[in-house]
Amino acid sequence: MAYGLLKGKKGIISGALDEHSLAWKIALKCHEEGAKFVLTNAPVALRMGTLQTLADRCQARIIPADATSVSDLEKVWKESQEILGGKIDFVLHSIGMSPNVRKGRSYGDLNYEWFLKTLDISALSFHKLLQTAEQQDAIAEYGSVVALSYMAAQRVFPDYSDMSQAKVMLESIARSYGYRYGKLRKVRVNTVSQSPTRTTAGTGVGDFDSFYEYADQMSPLGNASAEACADYVVTLFSDLTRSVTMQNLYHDGGFSAVGITPEILERLKEGR
Ligand SMILES: NC(=O)c1ccc[n+]([C@@H]2O[C@H](COP(=O)([O-])OP(=O)(O)OC[C@H]3O[C@@H](n4cnc5c(N)ncnc54)[C@H](O)[C@@H]3O)[C@@H](O)[C@H]2O)c1
Repeated sequence: MAYGLLKGKKGIISGALDEHSLAWKIALKCHEEGAKFVLTNAPVALRMGTLQTLADRCQARIIPADATSVSDLEKVWKESQEILGGKIDFVLHSIGMSPNVRKGRSYGDLNYEWFLKTLDISALSFHKLLQTAEQQDAIAEYGSVVALSYMAAQRVFPDYSDMSQAKVMLESIARSYGYRYGKLRKVRVNTVSQSPTRTTAGTGVGDFDSFYEYADQMSPLGNASAEACADYVVTLFSDLTRSVTMQNLYHDGGFSAVGITPEILERLKEGR
């Protein structure tokens, strides 16, 4: 059911690669709720993925941009405002990639060039996105910016490797820039810490299926789906959350507050 929560709002949505992407579901929901937006992704992803299908469904234009390139991001802000006809009300940062995870390097054998790449793509890009926006005064008053994070910023999940450090930095940028942009233009900046979800980035983490199942059993509501994530992010883009900023918001079915569950204890007993 649609509520018209984003009627008249203009947005930028990054990171939709294919129909499994969190950004893909969020874009569909934003469209359903009445928003107009542009889609952006890295040029290589545009060649590999199926973004045009989503663009057609949402009547959205695509602006290719590598999120590590300041000049590409400047172009995203300039062209988005031209296409949509004014300042931007909401922005989704849904970008993450670790060459170390992708190439299976262990945490004791990281390639540092790749580590820097992980941080640049998955965290620094968020600062670059916000700084280029501020320089063009491109976000409307009470605009809302959301980036997607994961609990490995707070707790150790060994297979998440250097992406853990990237998520710590991402959440810290949300606080620091949230303060700055709040003072400047009343712009909100938050991160949403999502349950494990079957996407290209998600399933790239080692032994994803067991990881997924464990989180599901540890969460009283079960893992939060990509569709539920889209619902939640829409509320953060809407006017209903105008005083929420600088937060890392868990969207994980309760996982982050649970210590142990009877189901997991039972499984351990069975294994003895
Ligand atoms: N899937 C999960 O389990 C999960 C859980 C919590 C948080 N997240 C986060 O959600 C976000 C989206 O990931 P997803 O799970 O939807 O997977 P996904 O693979 O569908 O999305 C990742 C996106 O990042 C884009 N990207 C990579 N390098 C880029 C660059 N240089 N410039 C621009 N874009 C670039 C990719 O093209 C892709 O569209 C990521 O930040 C991820 O860490 C995912």
